[in-house]
Amino acid sequence: MLRATGLGYRYREGGRDQLLFENVDLTLASGECVALLGASGCGKSTLLNLLGTIDSPDQGTIHIGDQEVTALAEPARTLFRRQYLGFIYQRFFLVPTLNVAENVRLPLDLMGAASAGADQRVQEGLAAVGLADRANTFPDRLSGGEQQRVAIARALIHDPLLVLADEPTGSLDPDTAEGVLALLLAQAARNKGALLLVTHSEAVAARADRVLRFEHGRVVSQ
Ligand SMILES: Nc1ncnc2c1ncn2[C@@H]1O[C@H](COP(=O)(O)OP(=O)(O)OP(=O)(O)O)[C@@H](O)[C@H]1O
Ligand SMILES: [Mg+2]
Repeated sequence: MLRATGLGYRYREGGRDQLLFENVDLTLASGECVALLGASGCGKSTLLNLLGTIDSPDQGTIHIGDQEVTALAEPARTLFRRQYLGFIYQRFFLVPTLNVAENVRLPLDLMGAASAGADQRVQEGLAAVGLADRANTFPDRLSGGEQQRVAIARALIHDPLLVLADEPTGSLDPDTAEGVLALLLAQAARNKGALLLVTHSEAVAARADRVLRFEHGRVVSQ
């Protein structure tokens, strides 16, 4: 489903080249849920951005399905991302000028898939994260955990093949977290997709099929 080989990432800061990681390999099989643990600042979100085609690696290749996404230029990469990927950002990135339903609907609108059934899908998606009655609320009126659940509903609305989730339960109480986790695992199991889940919680990681740890610039099996 996902195969990343020899990924390297560096950034410039203070006029100097900083190496964040290199030679990172990672694979996800169809239907698999993999958890990624690692200390704050080790590069988990950066790696997710590369796998999600939001940023490009300095070295290495990424295949998602049959497509080498690192060989795609914009805007093909954006089109690929919209169709096949669901990204739950650590900082949610809800659109402040859109209400909850419009935020969740956005991926469908961007795909041009705004069919007659879109409103119902949005309503079902909101119900699945316990926010059926908040459709018309704007993000700044929501609690952190509510915003996180809107971000999750938005990431799943177009039935993506690969879900990349950056600490998706970080703002949630244990019961709500459990519900969200079940939703994400079900998404991975459906139509042979996959889920990569960044988390600081060993309990959440224990629910995955496999646990990886990011340490000293390397991804190792736990
Ligand atoms: N373009 C950049 N410019 C400056 N620093 C960067 C850049 N990209 C990554 N970094 C640095 O790389 C490190 C890794 O960041 P990243 O957000 O990937 O960590 P993380 O593992 O997700 O941490 P957390 O668990 O706190 O979310 C950070 O110190 C960050 O500041
Ligand atoms: Mg992070």
